[in-house]
Amino acid sequence: MNSLLELDDIQSGVLRPRPAPYVATYIALRIDERDAGRELMSRVANVVTSAANPTSPLADTGVSVALTYHGFNALGVPQPSLDTFSWEFRQGMAARAKDLGDVGASSPANWEEPLGSTDVHVVIVAVSPDQERLEAALARARNTYRQMKGIEAIWRQNCHALPNEKEPFGYRDGISHPAIEGSGIPGSNPKEEPLKAGEFVLGYADELGGIQRTEPEMLGRNGTYVVFRKLHQRVAEFRRYLKSNSNAPDDEELLAAKMMGRWRSGAPLALCPFHDDPALGADPLRNNDFMFQADDPAGMKTPGGSHIRRTNPRDASIAGVARIHRMIRRGTAYGPLLPEGVLDDDGADRGLMFAFVGAHIGRQFEFVQSEWINDGIFFGAGSDKDPIIGSTDGNGSFTLPRKPVRRRCQGIPQFVVTRGGEYCFMPGLKALRWLSELQT
Ligand code: HEM
Repeated sequence: MNSLLELDDIQSGVLRPRPAPYVATYIALRIDERDAGRELMSRVANVVTSAANPTSPLADTGVSVALTYHGFNALGVPQPSLDTFSWEFRQGMAARAKDLGDVGASSPANWEEPLGSTDVHVVIVAVSPDQERLEAALARARNTYRQMKGIEAIWRQNCHALPNEKEPFGYRDGISHPAIEGSGIPGSNPKEEPLKAGEFVLGYADELGGIQRTEPEMLGRNGTYVVFRKLHQRVAEFRRYLKSNSNAPDDEELLAAKMMGRWRSGAPLALCPFHDDPALGADPLRNNDFMFQADDPAGMKTPGGSHIRRTNPRDASIAGVARIHRMIRRGTAYGPLLPEGVLDDDGADRGLMFAFVGAHIGRQFEFVQSEWINDGIFFGAGSDKDPIIGSTDGNGSFTLPRKPVRRRCQGIPQFVVTRGGEYCFMPGLKALRWLSELQT
């Protein structure tokens, strides 16, 4: 296949959508001895799958590896090299908490240990369509560090698909993906021009014409930034809010759809504003084939404040340009499903391991999180936040444009709490070998 990107040097976890259904495991490692860390890099380079076969089903099972800034430090990457990585990455997610809205229950002081600490150095992710192949991939990954003095596994999170590809609030997830020039993987919206590869992989031109380079160049080339966030979802509270703010079951589903911009089936309000269409929701050729501006400038169908219109306003008229704030998402659900109809919290931990992939943590992930999710000024809605994932103090608000009068929802509690997270870098395969050969 003709490709601009050096796919055989890029980790498959960067470009490849996760399989559906899926099982996944995240493992965090601490490097206590520099030489052991370098040996680990050499071993994982043989286990990690590349993006060379973008559409092969065999590549549905894969292992990816990413490092935090502290991980690079533990390996002895020289400071002048470290200084060429993005400022946000060098700070780490915990240090950026206030800007990300990680305050109150979500503040790093309340995070699950050891997330956000200087101990998290390497994050290994194994993903597969089924448990059997996941176990095989995990065994390969574990062999790289098991019985190696100086490497400690310090955290693990198992994830698994919920029925019908839904996330814990009950919406179909994993629908909208950007198209990337040269990746060999089609995007999900035929109306969106493919984005320049440099938006997602270092070493290539991005939408602004810039090329991100590190020192040495091959350390960053074909690598990307990955943001992991463990997001706990208060499902019972979400259900109670919908129930007590609607007049009938139909209205409850409509309110849920307005908050997301899609019915829980995945069908977009842009294409079926008045009633659900489950066949449309499940059809990957149609369920993301829409824009906003010409058809729905005022948000009568898809409110400007809904989760999907905030996080990707597409061509809608907003302050700024949406294309430079796009991202690849790789969310995987964790915890047990809260049975249908249950309105009381059962105390179980459930939610989403959110994963962002992109070449610009600042103007992609952090911008979307702080300006589009936790503010409403960009589309003229004052301080309204994302009604589903906004960081509120229990008093969030959401506007549904409507004729003759708009509908206002108030007193929206915080439905999503951050339990921890890390800013990581996922190097290319050659860079992993370079790390293993460091002599400093
Ligand atoms: C527990 C937290 C979250 C839940 C339950 C959630 C749920 C969803 C769902 C159901 C969709 C629509 C289906 C799809 O297109 O895949 C979606 C889309 C999206 N979400 Fe989230 N999400 C969460 C967190 C986040 C965060 C933290 C971000 C960014 C910082 C984000 C960014 C996006 C984007 C960019 C889209 C695609 C919008 C589009 O292109 O239409 N989400 N999310």
